[in-house]
Amino acid sequence: MIHVTNLTKRYAGRTAVDEISFDVGRGEIVGFLGPNGAGKSTTLRMLTCYLSATEGRASVAGFDIFKDSIKVRKRVGYMPENVPLYLDMRVKEYLQFRARLKGMGYRESRAATDEAMDTCGLTDVQRKMINTLSKGYRQRVGLADALVNKPDLLVLDEPTNGLDPNQIRQVRDLIRQLGERHTILISTHILHEVEMTCGRVIILDKGQIKASDTPQNLVRRLRALGTVSVQVKGSPEAAMKEIEAMTGVRSVKHTITRQDWARIEIETEANTEICEEIFQIAVAKKWKLRELVQKTASLEDAFVNLTINKKEKKSDD
Ligand SMILES: Nc1ncnc2c1ncn2[C@@H]1O[C@H](COP(=O)(O)OP(=O)(O)O)[C@@H](O)[C@H]1O
Ligand SMILES: [Mg+2]
Repeated sequence: MIHVTNLTKRYAGRTAVDEISFDVGRGEIVGFLGPNGAGKSTTLRMLTCYLSATEGRASVAGFDIFKDSIKVRKRVGYMPENVPLYLDMRVKEYLQFRARLKGMGYRESRAATDEAMDTCGLTDVQRKMINTLSKGYRQRVGLADALVNKPDLLVLDEPTNGLDPNQIRQVRDLIRQLGERHTILISTHILHEVEMTCGRVIILDKGQIKASDTPQNLVRRLRALGTVSVQVKGSPEAAMKEIEAMTGVRSVKHTITRQDWARIEIETEANTEICEEIFQIAVAKKWKLRELVQKTASLEDAFVNLTINKKEKKSDD
């Protein structure tokens, strides 16, 4: 459904998307995950032909995004980051207007509008002005807009952004339901969301793909890594230096200091046991310790691990 090769976007010398390549098969729900500024929206805009690419190739539903952009647009339903809606139109009127704009005939657009409203739970509010709707309902109007012309592919840019937990759950259920009939590419920075809805996750950071796998595998890969937390009294620098030199240590960072106690978080390779070694050094060097624990990683750790480099970790803390 989507075939991307070395796609690149540069804004005035700044690379927002850096030679990314990936494929999305028909019927897949793929999550595009990454911190703010990772290049998610830029990628989605290029794939939906709202933004031209600087370099690379991509095809959507069998059509080249450069040569056949009109055909691509016809087959893609796009819900942008901040859904632009005509606030002084009524829900049904707006959706019908959008269906007509997307090239549907009058009768066809009426039937399609009813169906989209039904799918998105908007039938009860069809006569309401959009400006009287809650944010959750407006997102649903945005979704209904994206799918009204029955596109092969739905591209949703942070569809649950700004919603409360109940609304998030409703929109998430809706997306999962839509996944039965559409191929979906959805961007988000909410980990839980991809874990619940997506069959595959592509993690993007600084314009590059850091991982592409099922949420389960990503977690498993990370669970294999270990985190050790240590608290030492006084300045942590000397201890950090010793720990950094140990085998199997991937990164060492100092997190908080409270009342003279500094916490050091250590990331290790899979199946590495370093607590004993730390304890022995602590005894030899007479460090005062009040915590030495081995923790297991979460999907959040996976994300942080893949998207923040060591240098940043230190300066951010
Ligand atoms: N129109 C633009 N002009 C210049 N830089 C931009 C523009 N749009 C986005 N960028 C930059 O490109 C990078 C990626 O942005 P974006 O794709 O919006 O990321 P995301 O959606 O993952 O938060 C950011 O560094 C952003 O500042
Ligand atoms: Mg974005």
